[in-house]
Amino acid sequence: MRSRILGTGSYAPKQVLTNADLETMVETSDSWIVERTGIRERRVAAPGEACSDLGVLAAQQALADANVQASQLDLIVVATCTGDSPLPSTASLIQHRLGAVKAAACDISAACCGFVYGLSVADAYVRTGYRYVLVIGAEVMSSIIDWTDRNTCVLFGDGAGAAVVGPTEDDHGILSLHLHSDGRLSDLICVPGGGSRIPPSERMVIDRLPFIKMRGNETFKIAVKTMEDAVREATSAHGFGIDDVDWLVPHQANVRILKAVGQRLRLPLERIAVNLTRYGNTSAASIPLALDEAVKNGTIQTGHVVVMAAFGSGLTWASGIMRW
Ligand code: ACO
Repeated sequence: MRSRILGTGSYAPKQVLTNADLETMVETSDSWIVERTGIRERRVAAPGEACSDLGVLAAQQALADANVQASQLDLIVVATCTGDSPLPSTASLIQHRLGAVKAAACDISAACCGFVYGLSVADAYVRTGYRYVLVIGAEVMSSIIDWTDRNTCVLFGDGAGAAVVGPTEDDHGILSLHLHSDGRLSDLICVPGGGSRIPPSERMVIDRLPFIKMRGNETFKIAVKTMEDAVREATSAHGFGIDDVDWLVPHQANVRILKAVGQRLRLPLERIAVNLTRYGNTSAASIPLALDEAVKNGTIQTGHVVVMAAFGSGLTWASGIMRW
């Protein structure tokens, strides 16, 4: 027995923030952002709209798509680095809002790899007898962005994606998942303040410590290498070559990263699902958002071999391979 994604859903806030809008906020330009990242616009949560609000809407779609009732869920896993608050878990808040009365609930912190890490939890529990697990990647990155820092504020966006995972006995479904981390590189992408190392204080806000910091150029090079390795690990685990991959659904950080990964793998960009142009980097939400879009518009079809690959803060990197 293996696990399979039975249904997907996604949600992005209504408010669109364009590159032209950012030109009025920091010293940047539409041409720099498009040329260096591929991003044209991103979504931003409304005031008061939190991670669980986005997650619930994505989850409801995924449940309907899977034809599963919330009351049938055994477990809810929310991958996020921008949960509603440190306590309780955002998964618990979503459990209540969905009416998933018998589900256990917890959050996973693995930054942009969170959805793939979450799928690995779902896969493991389904293989040991859980019936339905809901995995959500949801982020309000706008809540940890320093809107005065042009190095980061142009890159990120808000959104959510969800998948209902359940058992299958045919040869479709999740074939394997591969997770990695190298904590030596933890300072490449981080939010320095707001936790137990630098607890909340007026001083730390003045010092801009509750906001994301990134050494972009170093991250870029590592991202290309780890994504390539992660895809190769997933395919070779099943004796597949790159030509056997119908779709790569990668973490959406930068179109130049995706082009470089495609070139190294000899995988044409036409077989890589790209939606960062419209959403920017939505961290843990990026893969399920892109996956839902590709499934719903008929790009990914039954029988396709789909590889997911991600990298992010930690550093973490991860991949997964499924027969859709
Ligand atoms: N507008 C105009 N100029 C800018 C901007 C901006 N928004 N941002 C930076 N610049 C400038 C820099 O100041 C620098 O100027 P200088 O040469 O005078 O010092 C110049 O552009 C080049 O900066 P680099 O950082 O070298 O630019 P690079 O080509 O590397 O692109 C980018 C930057 C887009 C951040 C890229 O490095 C990248 O995408 N890195 C990967 C990021 C990533 O994938 N993170 C994923 C993890 S996120 C997570 O885990 C939550």
